[in-house]
Amino acid sequence: MPRLITISNRLPISVKVKEGEFVYEQSVGGLATGLSSTDAKENYWVGWPGMTIKADDQAALAARMNKDNLQPVFLTDREYENFYEGFSNKIIWPLYHYFKQYASYKKTYWEAYRQVNERFCEEVQKIARPDDVFWVHDYQLMLLPKMLREKFPDATIGYFLHIPFPSYELFRSLPWRKEVLEGILGADLVGFHTYDYVRHFLSATTRILGLNHSLGKVNMAGRIAEVDSFPMGIDYDKFAKAVFEKETIREIIELRQQLGKDKIILSVDRLDYSKGILQRIQAFERFLERYPEWQGQVTLLLILVPSRATVDQYQQLKEDIDQAVGRINGKFNTLRWTPIHYFYRALPFNTLAAVYYMADIALITPFRDGMNLIAKEYIATKTDQTGVLILSEMAGAAKELTEAILVNPDDPHDIVRAIHKALTMPAEEQMARNTAMQQTLRRYNVKRWSEVFLDRLKEARLSTEKIKRK
Ligand code: G6P
Repeated sequence: MPRLITISNRLPISVKVKEGEFVYEQSVGGLATGLSSTDAKENYWVGWPGMTIKADDQAALAARMNKDNLQPVFLTDREYENFYEGFSNKIIWPLYHYFKQYASYKKTYWEAYRQVNERFCEEVQKIARPDDVFWVHDYQLMLLPKMLREKFPDATIGYFLHIPFPSYELFRSLPWRKEVLEGILGADLVGFHTYDYVRHFLSATTRILGLNHSLGKVNMAGRIAEVDSFPMGIDYDKFAKAVFEKETIREIIELRQQLGKDKIILSVDRLDYSKGILQRIQAFERFLERYPEWQGQVTLLLILVPSRATVDQYQQLKEDIDQAVGRINGKFNTLRWTPIHYFYRALPFNTLAAVYYMADIALITPFRDGMNLIAKEYIATKTDQTGVLILSEMAGAAKELTEAILVNPDDPHDIVRAIHKALTMPAEEQMARNTAMQQTLRRYNVKRWSEVFLDRLKEARLSTEKIKRK
């Protein structure tokens, strides 16, 4: 078994300073879980440690991290600004989520992006062996597959995009569209969450690079790059079991005491404009006006996880949400009832599991979302099979979770109707819908996802080797 080298912008841990010492903080991301179970004899992870590290401290920290099979990529404050905040989150993130008006096509961002991708390549070279399998992740590293291909022409290289790939008509506006496509196509296998993203990518490849493809295989002169969809799953058992853990049960009891008999509508996201949070809150307000009999009976539990807070649009959105929540609570509050309970922080795992379990409805209405794992986590914790998922049809997860109430996030009336339908849905119907979704999620969990991708990657590499031998 060759080694697996995973490369992503963030490592599965972030480094923090506590009492003058560097400590690791574990991230609970799904990717780390999926990869921990692969049958590679050793896994290595290359990525940014999550904070700027002074030059003097870098060598010692890297040596320590290497012992844990982690290879850090250190970024300067300027690189963080231009590569991470700039190209990744002020160009690619908005463009790929159909917020072109937020994209700011600055050349300095592009240059930093290229340089930092090169730096990732150098760091990989420090630890790589020719027979390693490389798996590059997400939009921060779209140039890296080609850079690795140039250094290791016969290597097995996979690439997975965790966000949507937009339609050609939108993608074409990117000044560096050619370089980005060529960068990704350095891989033997390119994966997306849904077939729509695959179609958009292949269409851009043909129209911008003039490359032919057939059945998802792109002809790269002596080499094949395969493109396909691999919908990412979750660690199903972890969420299903969490409900029975002591800490979760304690949280459930506490929440019940605080919220009484109110029905709970749950909204959890990273605070991001692609998630449609403000419009969701406004739809809840409209619901309370349209169905006044529900006033005093239903509470929106709004949990927003701080994210990219130094980028303008995120700051503005935070202000707009704060205002809307204040206004709506001011309008409907009674001494006994607060319509929106608002938390701006990340919740510990067991608290999150408790709110999933307690919530009568999960209201997830992104304008665009590559997949949305929260929708899947909510269903997995529903061990008594009750609860209703309202899900945007613009989330990748909607392709699999077809038993959810699917809504158009741009249509407030549709969201209002869905909330009413969910609140009045008979328990048997809830159970039938959730049982079906649970079966899918249990089977296609995150371990299965990584196995399927890595098996296909091996096959893809073999087809190129066959071509070369001919
Ligand atoms: C999305 C992206 C990830 C990213 C995460 C958190 O899920 O696909 O690549 O790591 O958001 O965003 P951040 O900017 O904090 O890494």
